[in-house]
Amino acid sequence: MLNALNTDNSPFNEQQIASLQSSLGALDPAQSMWLSGYLAGQLSAGGALPAQATPAAAPAGQALTILYGSETGNGETVAEALAARFEAAGQPAELQSLDGFRPAALKKLEHAVFVMSTHGEGDPPEEALDFFEFLDSDRAPKLDKLSYRVLALGDSSYAQFCEAGRRLDERLQALGAKPFGPRVDCDVDYDSPAETWGTEVLEHARETLGGGEAAAQPANAAHLHLVQAEPAPWTRLQPFSSETLRVQKITANASEKDVHHIELSLEDSGIRYEPGDALGVWAPNDPELVAEILDGLSIDPATKVTAGEREVTVAEALTEHHEITRLAEATVRGLASAGGQDTLAEEYEALDDAGQRAFIERRQLADLVAAYPFQLNAQALVDQLRPLASRSYSIASSQALVDEEVHLTVATLASDAIGTERRGVASQFLNHRVGEGGQVRVFLEPNRRFRLPENPETPIVMIGAGTGVAPYRAFLQELEARGTNPDAWLIFGNPHLRTDFLYQREFLKWRADGLLNRIDAAWSRDQAEKRYVQHIVAEQAERLDEWLARGAHVYLCGALQMGEAVTSAIADALVESRGLDAEAAAAAVANLRREKRLLKDLY
Ligand SMILES: Cc1cc2nc3c(=O)[nH]c(=O)nc-3n(C[C@H](O)[C@H](O)[C@H](O)COP(=O)(O)OP(=O)(O)OC[C@H]3O[C@@H](n4cnc5c(N)ncnc54)[C@H](O)[C@@H]3O)c2cc1C
Ligand SMILES: Cc1cc2nc3c(=O)[nH]c(=O)nc-3n(C[C@H](O)[C@H](O)[C@H](O)COP(=O)(O)O)c2cc1C
Repeated sequence: MLNALNTDNSPFNEQQIASLQSSLGALDPAQSMWLSGYLAGQLSAGGALPAQATPAAAPAGQALTILYGSETGNGETVAEALAARFEAAGQPAELQSLDGFRPAALKKLEHAVFVMSTHGEGDPPEEALDFFEFLDSDRAPKLDKLSYRVLALGDSSYAQFCEAGRRLDERLQALGAKPFGPRVDCDVDYDSPAETWGTEVLEHARETLGGGEAAAQPANAAHLHLVQAEPAPWTRLQPFSSETLRVQKITANASEKDVHHIELSLEDSGIRYEPGDALGVWAPNDPELVAEILDGLSIDPATKVTAGEREVTVAEALTEHHEITRLAEATVRGLASAGGQDTLAEEYEALDDAGQRAFIERRQLADLVAAYPFQLNAQALVDQLRPLASRSYSIASSQALVDEEVHLTVATLASDAIGTERRGVASQFLNHRVGEGGQVRVFLEPNRRFRLPENPETPIVMIGAGTGVAPYRAFLQELEARGTNPDAWLIFGNPHLRTDFLYQREFLKWRADGLLNRIDAAWSRDQAEKRYVQHIVAEQAERLDEWLARGAHVYLCGALQMGEAVTSAIADALVESRGLDAEAAAAAVANLRREKRLLKDLY
């Protein structure tokens, strides 16, 4: 497409062509699509394109500010799509991440919408932490001029569903702001509610803020044409079907962990990823598990049901479209009620919050079916189940080295908490069901919040436990391919040296070649006392501080609890090495986060 810039009838001079080729070539498909929508929106608004996009060139009418707090990119995509819709409709809007949003700007806001996801255990995303802190503080201004609406993204399998969006909504109202519509809390199938919310927001903006004349003009067709002319990028809803090239167990047979290295082909997909990104994976449920559930309920697998807008067999609905491994509160309550299971309802309601969480986390649908005799027909069953969600995996490779491949490091999730061993759907699919030569539906989940430093000389400290090592393999492959050699330190943890040193040969070779300056490993169960990565951080307080003094970026990847423990160990290390009190050390850690030198990829 960029070659078209060079044709005889191109309106650009050589310098402009070079500049456009360099700028456009760097865009990913979503960015190209957004830009095409923006340009078409400008054209369809009837005016010439401005030399620079200044506020003065925006369509008439007051702008709506679209603010988002996102960690894994869903909220960002939703906010960007809304901004593109506004542009296409000639309705003024300003899109902004809450990352670095200036508190002073808050009191000037009059018309805003917020797209807010929830992370950790009911927490705001990292990039919105400062914003929440400010809103909760005495410094927060009165917001009685602000008219706003919130779209909350979450996952109802977590205890605190859409908590950050809920907190935001509550706090804005407490400060005097007026919602122009109810908050919408979205579960994992957020696309349709987010779109409806966006339509309502756009209509509201048209009615109350002016502008938007362009929407009715025929020139708007140019926008649609431009958007559709772009090749469809592979997305969550339109995944790429990739071939599995390699499935290799990388923990020893004696290990309690079952971790596999997975290689997938991205040939001809055009997908370009960067170290730090994750791969979204759609995994069908295990047909044997589906059969066990249907058998337990005496439901004929061939019974037709409506799942969403499709009519399919109940076996297909459970295999392809619904969650059967991860329960949620609404599923348990819904099944008890629809299935006439008073015993389940009584037992569940008698538990306190923590007990209900444990009940849900330890059981799958098959366990409920085995334990409680439900009276459910096929449709009533399907109606209680949440839609199947994709799973994310940190990418463990660099395209600079592996080209049209993507590598993952996947731990099989297995639990026998209530006596029967159950597996996680996606990890079991990737490690044990798909097999080499099989197909996996994937899409890219870019993570601009977990990147190598821009300066090739900035030192990096990579801290991770278990599969948290995956992105560091990608980082080191990338550094190797680039031929740059910043100081690099790996702090890795897993149960046993003998069985669980993931990618041992590769990391030791990088150490021997000098790409890695240090490897410190915490083998948690190789001695009487448990030893974790946070213990290494504590032991190496002086060294860590010395690396920080040289501008090091510190990365944390792996389980949420590990991330929390390491974050407090870093604060303690600063107490130790700098003689700070606990408050000053916490402030120093918060500063590292603000400066984007403490980067987290936790799950
Ligand atoms: C950004 C990101 C990056 C990730 N990177 C990786 C990676 O590199 N490698 C990797 O292996 N995983 C990674 N994960 C986790 C991965 O996405 C899946 O959550 C994991 O593989 C389990 O999914 P599953 O479908 O196998 O299990 P599910 O089917 O989701 O779960 C099955 C059962 O296990 C329970 N359960 C779910 N999660 C947990 C848990 N954490 N602890 C205990 N019980 C649980 C559920 O309640 C359910 O009963 C990442 C997650 C995120 C968000
Ligand atoms: C590590 C992790 C923790 C999460 N914690 C919660 C939670 O406590 N409550 C909730 O409703 N959703 C939770 N979610 C689900 C996210 O809010 C949901 O996936 C959302 O779409 C993410 O939006 P984002 O990509 O814009 O960050 C969590 C997701 C992850 C990966």
